[in-house]
Amino acid sequence: MALIYVNQETLEFHLTNGQVSYIFRVMEKVQTLEQLYYGKAIRHREDFSYLIEREVRPSNNQFDGDHTSSLEHVKQELPVYGTTDFRYPALEITYPDGDTISRFRYQSYVVQNGKQKIAGQPTTFSKEADAQTLVIYLKDEYSDVELQLSYTIFKEYPVITRHATLTNSGQEEVTVNRLMSLSIDLPTKDYELLHLTGAWARETQVQREALHYGVQSISSTRGASSHVHNPFFALCEPTANEVAGEVFGFSLVYSGNFLGQIEVDTYEVTRLMLGINPFQFAWQLKAGDSFSTPEAVMVYSDTGLNGMSQTFHSFYQNQLVRPQWAHKERPILLNNWEATYFDFDEAKLDALIETAKELEIELFVLDDGWFGARNSDNSSLGNWTVDPKKLPNGLSALSNKIHKAGLKFGLWFEPEMVSAETALYEEHPEWLLGHPKKNRSHGRNQFVLDFGQPEAVEEIFRQMKAILDETPIDYLKWDMNRYISEAFSTHLAKEQQGEVFHRYILGVYTLYEKLLAAYPELLIESCAGGGGRFDPALLYYAPQTWASDDTDAVERLKIQYGASMIYPLSSIGSHVSEVPNHQVGRITSLKMRNDVATFGTFGYELDVTKLSVEQKAEIKQQVRVFKESRGLIHSGDFYRLVSPFHSNEAAWMVVSKDKRQAIVGYYQVLAEPNPIYKRLKLQGLADDFQYQVSQQPAETEQDQNQVQNQKQARYGDDLMNVGLIFGENYIDRAQEYWAKEKQGDFHSQLIYLKAIDEV
Ligand code: GLA
Repeated sequence: MALIYVNQETLEFHLTNGQVSYIFRVMEKVQTLEQLYYGKAIRHREDFSYLIEREVRPSNNQFDGDHTSSLEHVKQELPVYGTTDFRYPALEITYPDGDTISRFRYQSYVVQNGKQKIAGQPTTFSKEADAQTLVIYLKDEYSDVELQLSYTIFKEYPVITRHATLTNSGQEEVTVNRLMSLSIDLPTKDYELLHLTGAWARETQVQREALHYGVQSISSTRGASSHVHNPFFALCEPTANEVAGEVFGFSLVYSGNFLGQIEVDTYEVTRLMLGINPFQFAWQLKAGDSFSTPEAVMVYSDTGLNGMSQTFHSFYQNQLVRPQWAHKERPILLNNWEATYFDFDEAKLDALIETAKELEIELFVLDDGWFGARNSDNSSLGNWTVDPKKLPNGLSALSNKIHKAGLKFGLWFEPEMVSAETALYEEHPEWLLGHPKKNRSHGRNQFVLDFGQPEAVEEIFRQMKAILDETPIDYLKWDMNRYISEAFSTHLAKEQQGEVFHRYILGVYTLYEKLLAAYPELLIESCAGGGGRFDPALLYYAPQTWASDDTDAVERLKIQYGASMIYPLSSIGSHVSEVPNHQVGRITSLKMRNDVATFGTFGYELDVTKLSVEQKAEIKQQVRVFKESRGLIHSGDFYRLVSPFHSNEAAWMVVSKDKRQAIVGYYQVLAEPNPIYKRLKLQGLADDFQYQVSQQPAETEQDQNQVQNQKQARYGDDLMNVGLIFGENYIDRAQEYWAKEKQGDFHSQLIYLKAIDEV
């Protein structure tokens, strides 16, 4: 298997797998890496020198002793400061003299099978035979600092991953001011930037705008990847849509402060970079030390945004998520948060558990409020011992009861935080982030533990372990409910304060590693006030994320549509909740709530003890249907069909890998009078399969009747080109408009397709 070609004479490197090509070379005079092409696969050749674009322009600064070596217009791989280039660099180092002038020259390369883990950080993985890694070694001319650029290309996916490592082999310390995970210069500015923006309760809103001259960026400065921007962006051809056109997607496997920056220069070259945010970042690279960036994942698609998303979905599901969870059925849960908030006791929980059992739900999650004396959000974080007032028989008794009822048991923690007036807070003020003599803000009445201090991580692990060892727990919800606005660690020297944010996130990863090493079967769902840390790095540990505290079905259309740009449905936490909805006060039907939550991990978050007999029957049916459908939903190919950002409707569908089954979700937000005819073109079906189209998933006797089915069946090409028809056919059924049933606002339909065999 050759996925990496090297033209030895010209030192041209070509990564290609038949789907994508990525080509760069070593510039012969200055020994810098020059980017030549990134896009759809082209065939390899012995010489790519025709791709070199070199102009001598009057205003250029030139390398000393040379007249054609300005880097100002050269498309590069990882530009550094101090090399005649005026654009933002991807690497900047401060040297002992205080200068920041670097010059990294190519030294050598190696090609390895498979790919290696980045120590201490979540990384995508691959079998030896399924990927190849190219490592390029460069060395600084002015110091003994070495730079390693790693590129992995995968056999099966149009994906290249990148990261960079700096090693200080000299005697003197240097400071790394910025080191991006990837940087590429593309030869045109004819793209649109697509990214996800938001806030608490309205995460992952899709934004799309044209590139313009100058700098555009997305970032986080909050200590977490954040609700505000996701560490992801895509550059799309202006004509690219969900189903067609070229799209380049970039995603960072990182949970902390990040920067995604796009700079268009005056020659219309687009420099894009993604990595740790240089804001508040400065890493002391001591003699003998190395520093590795997080991994960046680049996806190429020539089948529009759906093509990009499907690659991210299957790549993250198969090469990032813990393998045991990649395709394992996720339990349908009942979470007590919106049912009780902090106000519960054993009797209340018993009633919820009994009803969950009756509804055939599989996992009961006890959310916030079970520990210390936590009756509101102003106390007890950091005291992870059970509240004897609420649970006099302890957690184990509760866990046993739940397991006896045939359900699994899940428990909420917020490991990174501490409340005032706890023993932890009083005894270890040095474990708090922030300056002891300056304003140390609280957020949701709580303080952030300095997870850069291994002792603090160890203490939280000790407390969690005490609970997990005593109580059988199957699922853990790891929450994080505030950001960091005063990054200072009493534990670090003054020169190291620029390391606080990154060390914090490394500490978060450490606790995840410790937990999973001790409890490898644990299913973890990550959460940060909803989707405040929905990123690939946490997916590595926690295969599902609570996508938003907004559980309203209409709002969720946008949130889940946006999240699906990168994250697989098996990772998008989605619940059917109470009405009127607790975030927006909207009343939607149980059906609409189910039909939206179905395209995610699925569960319930409402007081099920208050349901009517009819509602219970409806939920029981939903649970049964989801159990039958979840294999398809979590492992099929997802297609977005109609965007809720641009219309009163939304639609999406999942198709099984063998194309024999599909589920379509169609949603209309507001009712319209005297409606227009609507057709919904489907995607991803097999042209010549005949599909039975039904509002029911289950195989009934009648479904077995092939003759009957033949009449109702429609071919894949018909469904993809004509589409599903939503207007009704009244031939021979003369009926007045007024007599027709009106659907009202917030209408939804699930449509099930099943290939039937010819008779
Ligand atoms: C956050 C989470 C919620 C819930 C509460 C508990 O807001 O996103 O799902 O767990 O905390 O305090």
